[in-house]
Amino acid sequence: MVSSIEEVQERLAAQQYIASDEIATTVFLAERLGKPVLIEGPAGVGKTELAKAWAAATGRPLIRLQCYEGLDETKALYEWEYAKQMLYTQLLRDKLNAVLADAATLREAADRIAQEEDVFFSLRFLLPRPLLKAILSDEPVVLLIDEIDRADAEFEAFLLEVLSDFQVSVPELGTLRAKHIPTVFLTSNNTRELSEALKRRCLYLFIDYPSLEQELAIVRLKVPELAPQLARQAVELVQRLRRLDLKKQPSISETLDWARALVALNAQHLDRKTLESTLTVLLKHEADLQRGRRLLNGGEEARRPRRAPPWASDS
Ligand SMILES: Nc1ncnc2c1ncn2[C@@H]1O[C@H](COP(=O)(O)OP(=O)(O)OP(=O)(O)O)[C@@H](O)[C@H]1O
Ligand SMILES: [Mg+2]
Repeated sequence: MVSSIEEVQERLAAQQYIASDEIATTVFLAERLGKPVLIEGPAGVGKTELAKAWAAATGRPLIRLQCYEGLDETKALYEWEYAKQMLYTQLLRDKLNAVLADAATLREAADRIAQEEDVFFSLRFLLPRPLLKAILSDEPVVLLIDEIDRADAEFEAFLLEVLSDFQVSVPELGTLRAKHIPTVFLTSNNTRELSEALKRRCLYLFIDYPSLEQELAIVRLKVPELAPQLARQAVELVQRLRRLDLKKQPSISETLDWARALVALNAQHLDRKTLESTLTVLLKHEADLQRGRRLLNGGEEARRPRRAPPWASDS
């Protein structure tokens, strides 16, 4: 159990994750209140990484459920191991024959098989998927439910049930309860609105692009080979690029890729040629590249239009 927000920050930093006060406070509260954290934000800002880093920071296993369209309970919760059941049936054929040997009628034989049913519908033949793994775990775990917005709304409703009491009922086995409530992180890229019910159940964390100082700290930590002055210049440029009206803003992972590219090219300073030849590491759309180049050439910075607040919409 962590005792302070600072401790959360320190533990995450030891795993090379730079957490803002807001991130650290949310993680601290999640642990204290035993509530899941729903993390939203643009691509590549460290949503998934936060769950991984927290698992490593607490020495708990990370169990990950990657969501996608069509994901259902059998892939998320459990499946019966049909092939193994069949194999056991084959191997136990002699034994089964003995059980059925003196059955007078078909009905009697079926009844006898039914009496042995629990042999074949036991934990031995249950294949736990991530959610059940987290529930059955003997030690506390971190459960990452990644990109929940890709799953269907029905799956979200099912998840809500699991998250509310951490128990599942398997008809053949009864109710299975979690020995330890897992620390749960759900991430979403906002491709669709999540239900109010899910949000109500969770603590909410929006991770935005980092400030200049935060991003510089991440670069210094992850790419220490890059000269400090060059690192600062690079991050300053990334921050300026993000203010342009781009199709896709460069993410932290792209800043890190760029920093590594500069090291690989043994760049000493950010001259025009280096910038021109490496801009594609940051910007991945032709229109964005053109805007980026205009900026490098001292052109006007076409500012990113500020989004109108929802209450100002026409509809
Ligand atoms: N606060 C941070 N401290 C250290 N590294 C970070 C931080 N945020 C992001 N990173 C780096 O950025 C990379 C991308 O992060 P991550 O994959 O978690 O992004 P994401 O928000 O889950 O993106 P996506 O929405 O595309 O899945 C990570 O591998 C990590 O190296
Ligand atoms: Mg992710």
